[in-house]
Amino acid sequence: MIEVRHHRKLGSTGLTISPIGLGTVKFGRDTGLKYPNTFRIPDAKSLLALLTQAAELGINFIDTAPAYGSSEKTLGKLLKQINSPWHICTKVGEYHINGQSHYDFSTKATETSIENSLRNLNTDALELVLVHSDGNDKNIIEQSDVFETLLKLKDKGLIKHLGMSTKTVAGGTMALQFVEVLMISLNESDLSQATLIALAKQHNKGVLIKKSLQSGNTLKPSKAINFAANYPGVTSVILGTINKHHLQSNIDNLQLRT
Ligand SMILES: NC(=O)c1ccc[n+]([C@@H]2O[C@H](COP(=O)([O-])OP(=O)(O)OC[C@H]3O[C@@H](n4cnc5c(N)ncnc54)[C@H](OP(=O)(O)O)[C@@H]3O)[C@@H](O)[C@H]2O)c1
Repeated sequence: MIEVRHHRKLGSTGLTISPIGLGTVKFGRDTGLKYPNTFRIPDAKSLLALLTQAAELGINFIDTAPAYGSSEKTLGKLLKQINSPWHICTKVGEYHINGQSHYDFSTKATETSIENSLRNLNTDALELVLVHSDGNDKNIIEQSDVFETLLKLKDKGLIKHLGMSTKTVAGGTMALQFVEVLMISLNESDLSQATLIALAKQHNKGVLIKKSLQSGNTLKPSKAINFAANYPGVTSVILGTINKHHLQSNIDNLQLRT
């Protein structure tokens, strides 16, 4: 179990979260993904059991997105059935339409997305919203209205904290100038964005890690998780799983140095 003393501050947000978070792509989407094995979205009963198990293991941070199909809606229904202090992160920009990903960073799409996320997650304000990059990080920041729109929604109190899930060092560096949280890939086979972690730490920004298990391709899950969770400057490693045995062993084998 993850002890509360191991929880970490998420940059300047004021949130304190577990060093392992739960990724929920597979809670709501089973098409157009790059996982090594096909799977079926579990039923609500299994997902409730998995979320209950996550809470019991000391996980208090959940990552979702409109791009993850029915994930947000399912979480909105299930999380309120578990008495635990959840922190939820969702995104804007990538959408799951007819089984495929589509990207839209326009004002209209962003406003509609936030309205939908508020409704799906059954809340008055979203704690953390990340811009879900399509890979063209710099273009999104420089040429779309997405952050301007999000800042207006933040001023209205509909969003508390902003971040970006980036794919490039240049984009991540730019985003760090104005967001509180960055989500990047990190694993032993992909250290291409690791420089951003030190930069984020220097500026007191939160760092969330995606794909620490190489999206399920790693042969040594525990080693991969411990590598990412102990990487200096990382706040939380978002592990995607719908398998209760994997969830259990991922936490049982966690060895935190701090
Ligand atoms: N913002 C973005 O652009 C972005 C992109 C990708 C991901 N994410 C977020 O980050 C989360 C994690 O990323 P990810 O799901 O792509 O990759 P990941 O966490 O590297 O890998 C998830 C895969 O690893 C498998 N797995 C988990 N524990 C395992 C274990 N102990 N042994 C063997 N296999 C295991 C899972 O399968 P089982 O279900 O069978 O355990 C799942 O297929 C996502 O769920 C999402 O929340 C964000």
